[in-house]
Amino acid sequence: MTSLLELAERTLEKAQPAINSRWYPRYHLAARAGWMNDPNGLVWFDGWYHAFYQHHPYSPEWGPMHWGHARSKDLVHWEHLPVALAPEGPADKDGCFSGSAVVDGDTLALIYTGHKFHGSPDTDDNLYQVQCLATSRDGIHFERHGLVIDTPPGLHHFRDPKVWREGEFWYMVVGSRVENTGQVRLYRSTDLREWHDEGVFAEAEDGKGFMWECPDFFTLGGTRVLMFSPQGMAAEGYHHRNLFQSGYLLGEWQPGQPFSHNGQFIELDHGHDFYAPQSFLTPDGRRIVIGWLDMWESPMPERQDGWAGMLSLPRELSLTDDRRLRMKPAEEVTALRGSYYPTPVRCLNNQQVPVAADAEAVEVQLVWDLSASTAERFGMALGDGLRIYVDDQARRLVVERRYPEYSLEGTRSIPLPADNLLSLRIFIDRSSVEVFVNDGEACLSSRIYPQPGQRDISLFASHGAASLHDAGYWSLKR
Ligand code: FRU
Repeated sequence: MTSLLELAERTLEKAQPAINSRWYPRYHLAARAGWMNDPNGLVWFDGWYHAFYQHHPYSPEWGPMHWGHARSKDLVHWEHLPVALAPEGPADKDGCFSGSAVVDGDTLALIYTGHKFHGSPDTDDNLYQVQCLATSRDGIHFERHGLVIDTPPGLHHFRDPKVWREGEFWYMVVGSRVENTGQVRLYRSTDLREWHDEGVFAEAEDGKGFMWECPDFFTLGGTRVLMFSPQGMAAEGYHHRNLFQSGYLLGEWQPGQPFSHNGQFIELDHGHDFYAPQSFLTPDGRRIVIGWLDMWESPMPERQDGWAGMLSLPRELSLTDDRRLRMKPAEEVTALRGSYYPTPVRCLNNQQVPVAADAEAVEVQLVWDLSASTAERFGMALGDGLRIYVDDQARRLVVERRYPEYSLEGTRSIPLPADNLLSLRIFIDRSSVEVFVNDGEACLSSRIYPQPGQRDISLFASHGAASLHDAGYWSLKR
């Protein structure tokens, strides 16, 4: 181990026992201590799922990026491993930024962005981002090979390589910024070391983002999906409400051909906190996506507790008949289920009914009968801070969080699906909620910060009646 990796380890070993765990996830992956952002290098290698992530081990603030590392046999029980990459330079002296992993024979290869300033870091004119390679046989210790793609002339923001294999070649998409236009660029290689520039793969039309971060490209049911995280899309009605977005374009592509798509950017998650999702394949061929369950510049009050940031549940992607991505919890998530507590109540009439006390880690299942419900608002509450309800006047499903002490207040919502039944799987952890709607047709993910005594679950209906087809919850265990 190099001294920077050793220093990071020693720091984390000291910091981990000192964190305040009141909001630390019970069943999601978070750093042992310090800061975490994007998931990186998600891959199945040698019998393990590996999740790397953007990590600053020295404080719960973003700083010179390292790659944190954890592995799992089942995508839900994670084991922390030593920090995999530190900004040791020269190609990555100011940070090992986001990237991906591929299995090349018996080797695990990490392809990531080296972030460096030539001169003062005060201006982007001095910023250079290059793509780097590191490899490992044991999946734990990495040999650094330095830069494999230099910054193209005239560019500064050029990052987040996602590599995949197709036919005889490796391909890589990279996010970039040209003036105020976000782009994805394409590269091709036979050996992961020498890369051929295949030009601009896709780029933002007017106003669709000044920088496209974390591109990912994959095939789902014969359709090509370009998933990415644009910065700088203006909010429009209920859309694009977060500081930055993440979503996808669907289209057609063959090697050597341009990527043709209809330009329709569709958001992947409709909550307050979901960014930089990355996908990978399971050995049985499922396409799973994991995102950062946070948003840039949000208050993240857990920083007071010595840690910051967490990853979403693993979610399986598929394509719906009307050509959208369906995103539902990976089947492995059911392994977390402990006892089931059915909720006897089926009808609520202008009332609030307690369901569970002190719910820290639960999966709530609610199937509302919309056709038999007349209430103006009905749904579920967690203490006074979180409500997930149907607004009958607006015909929307709303996630509302209210933690004014942390400047976290407001709603996110989606239109009610056309069906008569509204089926919700709601995953609550100590500081997060993920709501999966009608078997993954939509998902809303947000961070929450309940105070002690604010974790009781209740159901409510106001100004009328609401009818439940089914209701209950599982306690979730690690
Ligand atoms: C996305 C991102 C990436 C970058 C990384 C830096 O959240 O800004 O573009 O590689 O985070 O930590």
